[in-house]
Amino acid sequence: MGGFLGFCYRQLTFKPKSLPTTISLEGKTALITGANSGLGLEAARELVAHKLSRLIIAVRDVSKGEAAKKSILESTKSTCEIEVWPLDYDFYDSIIEFQKRIEGLDRLDYALLNAGVKMMHYSTSPLGHETNVQINHLGTSAVSLVVLPTLKRTAQKLNSPVRLTIVSSEGHFWIPFKERTADNILKRMNDQETFGTQMQRYYTTKLLNVLWTRELSSKVPAGTIIINTVNPGFCYSGLHRHESSGIIKIFLWMFGWSSAEGGYCLTNALIQQENSHGKYLSEQRQTPPSPFVLSSEGQDVQQKVWRETIALLKEEAPGLDSSAVSPNIA
Ligand SMILES: NC(=O)c1ccc[n+]([C@@H]2O[C@H](COP(=O)([O-])OP(=O)(O)OC[C@H]3O[C@@H](n4cnc5c(N)ncnc54)[C@H](OP(=O)(O)O)[C@@H]3O)[C@@H](O)[C@H]2O)c1
Repeated sequence: MGGFLGFCYRQLTFKPKSLPTTISLEGKTALITGANSGLGLEAARELVAHKLSRLIIAVRDVSKGEAAKKSILESTKSTCEIEVWPLDYDFYDSIIEFQKRIEGLDRLDYALLNAGVKMMHYSTSPLGHETNVQINHLGTSAVSLVVLPTLKRTAQKLNSPVRLTIVSSEGHFWIPFKERTADNILKRMNDQETFGTQMQRYYTTKLLNVLWTRELSSKVPAGTIIINTVNPGFCYSGLHRHESSGIIKIFLWMFGWSSAEGGYCLTNALIQQENSHGKYLSEQRQTPPSPFVLSSEGQDVQQKVWRETIALLKEEAPGLDSSAVSPNIA
C-alpha cells in the first residue's frame, strides 16, 4: 500500500527489530555522523552493545558528542574505544580536516552517514546554499566521498566487503521536485522562490540522498563496499524541532516510533542486508524507491545531480581529496 495511508499503516503495524544478539562486532571500527542525538545516538548505542571495538562519533558540537559518549558507555558498560571528532557539514574546511583524520585510521568497517536537518523555512549556509541542500545533500555527499578511500583500503586488507549507509526518508516519494528541469538543479535550489511549502525542500534533499547513493554505488564494485540508503521511519527525535505547528506532536503520538526503533532500522541497513548494494531499505527490507527514481527521467536526473555535485565540490572545496571527487571512483 503506497501513499499516506500506506505510511500510516506501516508505522502502526511494523515493529523494528534490534540486531540479533548473536552478532558480535568485536575488532570492528564504525563511524556515525550526527551521533550525539536521535537515531544516530541510538544506532551508536546498539553497535557498542554488540561489542564494537572502536566508534567514531562525528559531530558539529564536541561537547554534545562527549555527553553522548558518556551516555553510551554508562548504558552499555562497554570498554569500546569511543572518539568524538568534530565535523560540520556546513563548512568544507571541517570536512577536509575530518578527511585527514579518517585517512589516518588503520581500518573502517562501517560508515553511517546520518547527520541531517529538517529546516521548514528558507535559510542559507555560509556558502549561500539553502540549508537543507547544504547539510543533507552537499555535506553528506562530500563526506561519502572522503570516507571511500579508507573503506576501500579496509576491504582490500580484510579481503571482505565493508559498509556505507546513507540515511534518507520515505518522504522522497512525496515531492514534486520541480527543480529537476533546471539547467543547473543545485543552483536553482539556492533560489528562495523554489523552497516550496512545509517539508517539500527537506524531502527533496532526501530524494537527492537516494539518487546520490544509487549513482555512487554504480561506481563502486559491490564486492568492495556495500553502499545502501535507508528510510528509518517516522520517529521521535530532535529533527522535528523546527516545526512550529502542534500537528507534528499529534502525528508523532499517533504514528511515531521511538528513536531506538529508528536506530534499529539504521543498524539493520549498516550491519545486516548483505545483498543491498545500491538499494533502498525501508521497514528493514529492500523495497523499490519512488517511481520517479526508477523512471528514465529519474536516472538522467541522478547522473546530472552527480555531475553537478562533483563540479560544485571541486569548485567550493578544492582541498577535498581529488581522487575522491574524481567521477571514476572505483
Ligand atoms: N526522525 C525522523 O522521523 C526521521 C525520518 C526520516 C529520516 N530521518 C533522518 O534521520 C537522520 C537523523 O535524524 P534524527 O531524527 O536523529 O534527528 P536529530 O536528533 O536532529 O539528529 C540529527 C543529527 O544531525 C546533526 N547535524 C545537524 N546539522 C549538522 C551539521 N551542519 N553538521 C554535522 N552534523 C549536523 C545534529 O547535530 P546537532 O545536535 O548539533 O544539531 C544531530 O546530531 C537525518 O538524516 C534525518 O533526515 C529522520
